Amino acid sequence: MPASQYLFPRFVLIVATLPALIFCWTNHHHHHHPLSTTRQMQPTTEEGTPVWDPVAQIYVGGIVPEHAAVQELIEQNQGCLRLFGYGSLCWNPGAGALAHASVHHRPAKARGYRRCWAQKSTDHRGVPSFPGIVCTLLKDQEVRQLRSLDYDSPTFTEGLVYEVPSELVDECLAELDFREKGGYARDVIDVIDDQTGDVLQALLYRGTLDNPAIWPRVLRDLPFAAAVLSVAVGPSGTNHEYLHQLDAFLESSTAASQMEQLFDDTYILSSMTKTFQRDATLFFFVAAGSNQHNQLLLKDAVGDLHQGEDVYFMTESVLCISRRSDPSTGIYAGGGHSALLTQEGRLYLWGWNEHGQLGMTPGVSDSPLPIRPIQPLAQIVVDKVALGFSHTLVLERGTGKLFAFGDNSRGQVNGQIDKKSLSIFEAKEIALYKNDMFKEVAAGLFHSACVTKDGQLITFGCRKFGQCLEGSSWTPSDSSILQVVCGRRHTVALDEKGRVWTFGDNQYGQLGRETRNKADPSPGLVEMGSTWRVQTIHCGWSHTVVLAQNDDNQTVVWGWGRNDKGQLGLADTSCVTRPTYLFQDHSAAIESLDCGSESTVLVDAKDRIWGCGWNEHGNLANGSTDDAHQLTQALGALVPLIPGYPEDISRLRVAAGGAHVIAMRVVSS
Ligand SMILES: *[C@@H]1O[C@H](CO)[C@@H](O)[C@H](O)[C@H]1NC(C)=O
Ligand SMILES: *[C@@H]1O[C@H](CO)[C@@H](O)[C@H](O)[C@H]1NC(C)=O
Repeated sequence: MPASQYLFPRFVLIVATLPALIFCWTNHHHHHHPLSTTRQMQPTTEEGTPVWDPVAQIYVGGIVPEHAAVQELIEQNQGCLRLFGYGSLCWNPGAGALAHASVHHRPAKARGYRRCWAQKSTDHRGVPSFPGIVCTLLKDQEVRQLRSLDYDSPTFTEGLVYEVPSELVDECLAELDFREKGGYARDVIDVIDDQTGDVLQALLYRGTLDNPAIWPRVLRDLPFAAAVLSVAVGPSGTNHEYLHQLDAFLESSTAASQMEQLFDDTYILSSMTKTFQRDATLFFFVAAGSNQHNQLLLKDAVGDLHQGEDVYFMTESVLCISRRSDPSTGIYAGGGHSALLTQEGRLYLWGWNEHGQLGMTPGVSDSPLPIRPIQPLAQIVVDKVALGFSHTLVLERGTGKLFAFGDNSRGQVNGQIDKKSLSIFEAKEIALYKNDMFKEVAAGLFHSACVTKDGQLITFGCRKFGQCLEGSSWTPSDSSILQVVCGRRHTVALDEKGRVWTFGDNQYGQLGRETRNKADPSPGLVEMGSTWRVQTIHCGWSHTVVLAQNDDNQTVVWGWGRNDKGQLGLADTSCVTRPTYLFQDHSAAIESLDCGSESTVLVDAKDRIWGCGWNEHGNLANGSTDDAHQLTQALGALVPLIPGYPEDISRLRVAAGGAHVIAMRVVSS
């Protein structure tokens, strides 16, 4: 559903109700003493100051410091405590002090403060591996530091004022300090009693901008926030319960619901979340690098992109499928497009589509909410997928039939060049020669390769540098082919004996062997010694990386080829013409490995992501745009563990593309 369908009624309401509210406020202002400004409270003691625990993402080991202003407030009110609630306190006073019969509450509003769904919750409505979102109350000027507001007048936020009698004050404060341990501070503010119009002072717990749990991203990107709200669960229950209960509280009075429509995201988030819960599947991942073609699905993450295009740190993102779907098993990154494959063989594509590499005619996108990925082959069960620079290859499960689409200017889609139609926009079955059944596909810059079910290698597309075979197919005389990968001008194949064969351009040593000419179209064996069996092969535009194991199950990474930008993680930037050990400190337990165009990324046994090489778009996610000549750790958002995915079957996978990187947890098939 387009975002505008949610935003439109809200906009109309803003226009319709703004004068009434301003009038309402002006009235109060004239009849009662002017509001004093919020007092900045200083802790009276340094001892027992809570410490932020970055793993659990809560404050631990301390008490919320005593504040002089709180004491003053209590004294002024004959020992009673007035407390303003704007989040869960609106609908759930808990079972403790606030539920006591002697505690009364009544509706009231805060002026100049906005209820913001911007506080990470890892202890109540989420967990550290998948934080939920709860409310905080931010001053208008604080909100404007994080996002724009579509009105100039002060915000009014509807909530409840609790009157806590003196005998329950200590108990109540102790309870709230615990309840709000996710990073809240005490504050004293002025609120307006809805019935009398009196201005009252009340204690408030709120997370301020300097608090580590503040989550600006969700304040800016409501569809993303709604996605989180619809799945997060924590020790206090589901996140959507917190949202829908608060929405119901605000709906219960006309004044409150008008204010909600005007100043608050609760209603819109509640509607979006209901839509997601009813008929969507959400796949959460993290991504960094170029978002020029929305290949990271971060187009709506306003403010988080540098020059509107790049992110330099791992950033949370979500793929929303507007139907029920099964869990993902794989994530892929191409030149400027990305893909996700599910266990049942559903393939979703998004990002760059200039050449039809998403399997549809470009330019027909209708700005969906939050994104509508393209499922070009809804009628087939997808087994394998390969994303090249500007084309895509897909194999059907069972039949081994090849489907391909995108840039065909070199014949990389269907093996033929048609000068009149250089791109193939429709996902079509490709018959390269009769009765082909394939088990593997690979796509490079401008060429492609497939392995038939009986282990024959075939290639098509650009052949200028010997990256395609001279004959129609090939297999080693004493083995058959298992896997193939394509670079910019070279091709790498793995046989059943765990040996690696290469052909094509050798300008940068990317063939890993000696060749008589710069380009060699005949597959030749890469010498790595008989003790190692290669398990997986990967290549970037001009470098090759393989993972090998010996009889003792020791794992090593070998690499060769171009290293001018640190593609191989070696300090010496000259070309590497022979297999060389890489990443020795990390190779023992590599969970996932991939090559970007001019970079290499991996996931270690502790689920940390590392990368080296070209980093111009922040695609190594370490906060910098300097190329890395040794592995550097990706920083930023942690890869979320989607609630409901059992931890032991959630493997972390990383995929690197032209100038982007994506990581997500998948169910291993
Ligand atoms: C190596 O791993 C295989 C498969 O996991 C296992 O069967 C074999 O016993 C292992 N060998 C050694 C030496 O640990
Ligand atoms: C990121 O990588 C670059 C290039 O290696 C390096 O200069 C920088 O210090 C790294 N940043 C961090 C935070 O490690």
